[in-house]
Amino acid sequence: MSSPPLVLVTGGTGFLALWVITHLFCQGYRVRTAVRSLSKVPHIKNCLREAGLTADQIASLEIVQADLLANTGWAAAVADATYIQHIASPFPAQAPKNDEELIKPAREGTLRVLRAARDSGTVMRVVVTSSFAAVGYGHAFEYAGADKERGFAEEDWTDLNGPRKVPAYQKSKLLAERAAWEFMEGEHEQPFDLVTICPVSVFGPALGKDDGTSLRTLVELLSGNAPGIPKLHWPIVDVRDCAKMQLLAMTTPAASRERFISVGEGGLWMEDIAKVLRRRLGEQAKKVPTRVFPNLLVRIIALVWPVVRPVIPELGHEKKVSNAKAKDILGWEWEHSSEEAVVTAAESLLKFGVIEV
Ligand SMILES: NC(=O)c1ccc[n+]([C@@H]2O[C@H](COP(=O)([O-])OP(=O)(O)OC[C@H]3O[C@@H](n4cnc5c(N)ncnc54)[C@H](OP(=O)(O)O)[C@@H]3O)[C@@H](O)[C@H]2O)c1
Repeated sequence: MSSPPLVLVTGGTGFLALWVITHLFCQGYRVRTAVRSLSKVPHIKNCLREAGLTADQIASLEIVQADLLANTGWAAAVADATYIQHIASPFPAQAPKNDEELIKPAREGTLRVLRAARDSGTVMRVVVTSSFAAVGYGHAFEYAGADKERGFAEEDWTDLNGPRKVPAYQKSKLLAERAAWEFMEGEHEQPFDLVTICPVSVFGPALGKDDGTSLRTLVELLSGNAPGIPKLHWPIVDVRDCAKMQLLAMTTPAASRERFISVGEGGLWMEDIAKVLRRRLGEQAKKVPTRVFPNLLVRIIALVWPVVRPVIPELGHEKKVSNAKAKDILGWEWEHSSEEAVVTAAESLLKFGVIEV
């Protein structure tokens, strides 16, 4: 009997990648992950245990070293792989001093992975995790997607020449995704296929203490670090639903050379997130602020609280985002509501001691 296909997942230490690895094992794939430092191997194993994988599954995970910023290791990482889930990309909580700190690893790392896929002779499809950051930024305030009724969709692209400044992280995701599509359209037809996934804000349960940037807002709210609530709207997808989409994108024939937005039920205003936390977590959410701040005040706060700066252009704007294409072509459905994604994320932060109340 032939062995199941091997899937390379880049960035196996990360919030989303750990759930993608879990789903891959649950569907019977062989899995290898590429990480930039082997020092986090114990963390990966603990997280996969937390996700409910068996000791045999965890022991069978191949872990190799490859940095997005270096050529070393990528040929070995893709060897014999049938599919690649390219998820690694820098996602820091704070804006870097120089945009290139994010753009270089995101863009060049993606190209390294694609070149290795091309040269492997075995890879059939690469799924690149892009972001809503590559879809909905830079436009004029009133822009709400090419089709306003439907909201932002796959034909929308972040506009670097638009009237609103695009922050470094958003720029890095846009340039990395663009580079991927340009690579596929290069001189020679590539011997493999590409699909990109553009998740909105990913919430849902973290599998360990190394929580990453995705849940940072909840950390700030629950720890009482946020003095008030800005008028920000968050389109949300649960990490488990997003991982499910990454797998469907890998094998659905009709997904070939397509781009999919990953958004679940919809979104929540930060004020509603705060209410959900207080209602569902009671005493554990006692530090969550209740005061909604006017936009002007948030702008002033951003002068001393840098984590707020990237969201300033978003104040007061509801983001309607469509998941129609993923439903239609991938047959994907979200299973976890926005509220559940928020509450399970918060519960995991409390469970692993990221927040002490
Ligand atoms: N979470 C969200 O809300 C969201 C939304 C849209 C798109 N995305 C995208 O989804 C992907 C995963 O996000 P996440 O939330 O899971 O982030 P995360 O937990 O911060 O994971 C990022 C991963 O990228 C790796 N990485 C960063 N720089 C690297 C480098 N130079 N070489 C090799 N690996 C490197 C990190 O490795 P280390 O552990 O060594 O740092 C980590 O494994 C990213 O591409 C992100 O842009 C996330």
